[in-house]
Amino acid sequence: MSQRLVVVGSQWGDEGKGKITDYFACRADMVVRYQGGNNAGHTVMFDGHKYSLQSIPSGIFNPATVNVMGNGMVVNPVSVIAELQKLHDQGLTDYQLFISDRAAMVMPWHSDLDGAYENMKGGKQIGTTKKGIGPAYCDKYSRIGLRMGDLLDPEYFAERLRAAMDVKNMELRMLGLETYDFDKVYDTYMEIASVLGSRICDTSALINEYLVMPDKKILFEGAQGMMLCIDHGTYPFVTSSSPSAASVPVGAGISPKWIDNVVGVAKAYCTRVGEGPFPTELHDHIAEEIRERGHEYGTVTGRPRRVGWFDAVVARYTSRLAGIDNWALMLFDVLSGLDKVKICTNYELDGKIIDNPPATIAMLARCKPVYIELEGWKEDISDVKDFNDLPEAAKAYVRKVEEVTGVKVGIISVGPDRKQTIIIDEKLREF
Ligand code: GDP
Ligand code: IMO
Ligand code: MG
Repeated sequence: MSQRLVVVGSQWGDEGKGKITDYFACRADMVVRYQGGNNAGHTVMFDGHKYSLQSIPSGIFNPATVNVMGNGMVVNPVSVIAELQKLHDQGLTDYQLFISDRAAMVMPWHSDLDGAYENMKGGKQIGTTKKGIGPAYCDKYSRIGLRMGDLLDPEYFAERLRAAMDVKNMELRMLGLETYDFDKVYDTYMEIASVLGSRICDTSALINEYLVMPDKKILFEGAQGMMLCIDHGTYPFVTSSSPSAASVPVGAGISPKWIDNVVGVAKAYCTRVGEGPFPTELHDHIAEEIRERGHEYGTVTGRPRRVGWFDAVVARYTSRLAGIDNWALMLFDVLSGLDKVKICTNYELDGKIIDNPPATIAMLARCKPVYIELEGWKEDISDVKDFNDLPEAAKAYVRKVEEVTGVKVGIISVGPDRKQTIIIDEKLREF
């Protein structure tokens, strides 16, 4: 068993990555976030407490774990400080956190622009989190962005800030939005530097120090899900980064040779928040039942999540793209009580059965799911600790997921708490 594990969302986000990361983080020496920003909302529950994390890695609750916000992230330092304050108010005082000096910085105008771009789309909004994630990644790739390390050198920061603000204020003005005052922004960010400065460092060097030590356990925590991937997702209804395990080397600053074990986090059904095609989406009372039982409302925005059946076309696609070795099958308890449960095995597109999602959302919107129907189960399974103690119909559902996806289920989650976790693949216990 490798000591380097990637936790990847395999659907449209909110699969339970926070729970799985926290589960392993109890034993991990390091947890690294490698993409995304505070558009993520990762929930962790243990000892009767519930925590919600946005930018901060889900290993933060173990004082022995080094938490790293990698260079592939877009970091909003104002939000990081607020998040740390909230955790502090919840009693968390002993933790280790480092932020990459190469990580792109989300500035206040990025969320203004995120909102403005959305409004300009008329009825065709993406339904972003409006945290400025897309605009921040755009500036990174346009090479006018600021980076967290810039904060450590006031003169250089001033130079970069002036260059960025010349462009951004012009854009804000053109859109009829409020512009920003250089001196005010500069002073605010120098204050931020005094709060976060000691945490900003070359995190690639730090991670690599751990990688060469054979006894260290390192966890890479993805945000979002593969169907929101900028390259492979339901473009343009996607986020602006790639959640894939393939992003870990670039987003953490390590060689690809280190990645050898990937857990794909998948709900036992599917959800999506925001707009965009969703082939197995349900609009009936079953969707309502699942939404209420699974508390399917966004962690960040509170929006009701759209709900649908488990989609094996998506699962096969994302396991191929992200190199998933095992599923962590989440929210399995939520399916209890249904008479029948369905799994989508293929799509029918214009009269043909297809195995893979098509490239355009126009075609995906025409795809009709082909289902197999299985018996449901009525028992409450939220206290089950061993796979063998699950009802027969629930076991059959798990075996069917494995059969139609070609990937073994390594973990089953039967409740939000850390303890409500069934490990099936014994190798995963070694991490
Ligand atoms: P993430 O973004 O992938 O970390 O997932 P979120 O935290 O946004 O959403 C997952 C939600 O499901 C959270 O409210 C979790 O507390 C909850 N959750 C995770 N696993 C389970 C489970 O097995 N059963 C139930 N009922 N809830 C779960
Ligand atoms: P976690 O890590 C679910 C969705 C938004 C929107 C689209 C683009 O908690 O799984 P963005 O603000 O990124 O430009 O929005 O992506 N989205 C998520 N949906 N979980 C997330 O993160 C998400 N992060 C972004 O709802 O549809
Ligand atoms: Mg979430």
